[in-house]
Amino acid sequence: MTSGLRKGLTSYGDAGFSLFLRKAFIKAMGYSDDALERPIVGITNTYSDYNPCHGNVPEIIEAAKRGVMLSGAMPFVFPTISIAESFAHPTSMYLRNLMAMDTEEMIRAQPMDAVIVIGGCDKTLPAQVMAAISADLPTVVIPVGPMVVGHHKGEVLGACTDCRRLWAKYRAGDMDDAEIEAVNGRLAPSVGTCMVMGTASTMACMIEAMGLSLPMSATIPAPHAERFRLAEASGKVAAEMAKTKGPKPSELLTPASFRNAQVVLQAIGGSTNGLIHLTAMAHRSPHRLDLAAFDQIGREVPVLVDLKPSGEHYMEHFHHAGGVPKLLAQLGDLIDLDAKTITGQTLREVAANAEDVPGQDAIRPRDNPIKTEGGLAILHGNLAPRGAVIKQSAASPKLLQHTGRAVVFESVEDMTLRVDDPDLDVNSDDVLVLRNAGPKGAPGMPEAGYLPIPKKLARGGTKDMVRISDARMSGTAFGTIVLHITPESAVGGPLALVKNGDMISLDVARRSIELLVDAAELERRRAALKPADAPEETRRGYAWLFNETIMQADEGCDFDFMQRTGKKTETG
Ligand code: FES
Repeated sequence: MTSGLRKGLTSYGDAGFSLFLRKAFIKAMGYSDDALERPIVGITNTYSDYNPCHGNVPEIIEAAKRGVMLSGAMPFVFPTISIAESFAHPTSMYLRNLMAMDTEEMIRAQPMDAVIVIGGCDKTLPAQVMAAISADLPTVVIPVGPMVVGHHKGEVLGACTDCRRLWAKYRAGDMDDAEIEAVNGRLAPSVGTCMVMGTASTMACMIEAMGLSLPMSATIPAPHAERFRLAEASGKVAAEMAKTKGPKPSELLTPASFRNAQVVLQAIGGSTNGLIHLTAMAHRSPHRLDLAAFDQIGREVPVLVDLKPSGEHYMEHFHHAGGVPKLLAQLGDLIDLDAKTITGQTLREVAANAEDVPGQDAIRPRDNPIKTEGGLAILHGNLAPRGAVIKQSAASPKLLQHTGRAVVFESVEDMTLRVDDPDLDVNSDDVLVLRNAGPKGAPGMPEAGYLPIPKKLARGGTKDMVRISDARMSGTAFGTIVLHITPESAVGGPLALVKNGDMISLDVARRSIELLVDAAELERRRAALKPADAPEETRRGYAWLFNETIMQADEGCDFDFMQRTGKKTETG
């Protein structure tokens, strides 16, 4: 057998001595020569006490190691950064690229023939796949899996669509302190990722459809025994990949597989974040996403998966209905079923093996979709020259065409201070505008795009308003919310020019978002704009790197120096 231990033996200018030294040190851990002569599968460890979504990572690692060893290879576990959505300051997005760099460099730096990346909480899978694409070593992805659902007073609960819905109810005065406390203990009843079609589930589904993980890997609930059997099976596949040196991400991630991911993103009513992450992943490859082509896919692909926040069910229901393989079968010719997976199977074979579950209603047939169009639409207009996105499947139909008066918040802090002010001049037909919350402005593009309905309006019964920003939104959120306005206001995008009282027109059918102010006046306002000073904290370290090199949302918010250079192909 060939040992992965021989990889990269250049440190001392004498390969023989380098291997001698490497073996001498690793033997301190009790390894035999037999173990060390085998192909090596590296396994990332993203367990952290700060990351409850990754609470089952130790068990997944054990199962994956078992699979690797059963197939005659040697597993080596190594730590990387772990990012948990609700604990990362200023935002998890701020840290995604750091995790991608950490993961890529540790894959490159350490000897291994294949790698298993284990992640799940929103930014972790995209970071790991971005790293895998750049390192281009045979890679198996094991998502940690979604939480099981919670229950409250006979109602099924899920993080975090119901977190937002019930918090809004509490804000509106329709729920008391004791009940919201009880709900707080029931929203996340197990380890695992949010069990609605949030960003974590969206990424896991797209990655499964891109062939980077085993069938059903996106949907098996995190605590189920099946998840650990999947991890063992993934370990076996990784061992074979280590022996045969393939397939590498560059062999699997073709324009067809990127297009398949976009079809799945639309069909699951997936998170708007999924679009940014997929764009970033493409930028690490020779391929590029085209927003117009993505929007066109959305016009042709219906939403078939009935999950919150676009529909009714939760990830475990999707799983028991047949998961991604069943969805691929239902999508049929909308997907390129010849695309390959890590096992060598095509998606056609994966779809053919999908379980038929009589009576299930979580995955709809194409002639009875949840929505006739895909979940996400791309908007353009004088407010968003390079585009903006709306999750139309989770919006209020009556607001999809709406004109209203702008109520402007200068920043997330300003919004937090003033949105509930009883004297705020706002009514339910207005358009709430948040700026300086983009990739550079905030920084890290917080998930602040789901602006809360001002308390006085919520108490009056307002459930939704048109809200627009250069921020992101949690995939678990719902409402008529325009996000990722590009270019962002902090780099001089037109959002910076909006004034209180301006009229803003949204027309999703026409894919337009317009500021109804004449061009000459906008030019006057632009001339009066003063560039903001870079904050003190951006003068050194990671904050400096981020501030200097972060790209806009339509480019995936990666660092400009991390994208792959050279010839590019469109994937739409
Ligand atoms: Fe980790 Fe939702 S908070 S996936």
